[in-house]
Amino acid sequence: MHILASTLRKTTLILLVGGFLVACSAPEETQTSATTDGPAYNTSLNVTDIMNLVLEPASDILWDSGGWILDASGYEELYPTTDEGWAYVRAQAAVIVESGNMLALPGRAEDNDAWMIYANGLSEAGILAMDAAAAQNEEDFFQAGAQLYSVCTACHQAYNPDILNRFDDED
Ligand code: HEC
Repeated sequence: MHILASTLRKTTLILLVGGFLVACSAPEETQTSATTDGPAYNTSLNVTDIMNLVLEPASDILWDSGGWILDASGYEELYPTTDEGWAYVRAQAAVIVESGNMLALPGRAEDNDAWMIYANGLSEAGILAMDAAAAQNEEDFFQAGAQLYSVCTACHQAYNPDILNRFDDED
């Protein structure tokens, strides 16, 4: 009787584990077939497109919104001065956060190593900028912009040194 009960319990356990495995492997199979049947992501835009059409416009707005410039009429403060202005730059920072993910996608990432670290650094700098914009903290916002700039430069240095010279030419 005792043996029977324990055998029954074992059988139940095996059945449970079996069911669990089936439940677990199902989504995995779907994922595999998604990658073999067709592209899981649309990567029609190449890295150059992402740079020119997504990342640079968004980061230019951040950089143009942080700090001061000296012109003929004196010092002009560039930081947003209204809630709407801060909300707008925060949205641009969100584009930067997601650009990090866009660059990390298969088909865009050049390797699974330093490239991924730089792509992630982009997202991190974007998050800092988003937080600073939400808090309307000018100093933190400026720092986030500086950190962002250093990530752009580091990745270009590693993967496309020609770009650095072009940036210099533009100044
Ligand atoms: C993960 C690496 C990486 C990061 C981070 C990165 N870039 Fe790039 N960028 C590249 C590569 C690679 C190219 C060259 C693409 C090509 O072959 O045309 C490039 C090219 C560019 C170009 C020139 C595009 C052209 O028409 O030739 C611009 C502009 C640019 N990046 C802006 C930026 C800015 C601004 C940032 C930061 C906000 C940034 N990039 C961050 C990898 C990166």
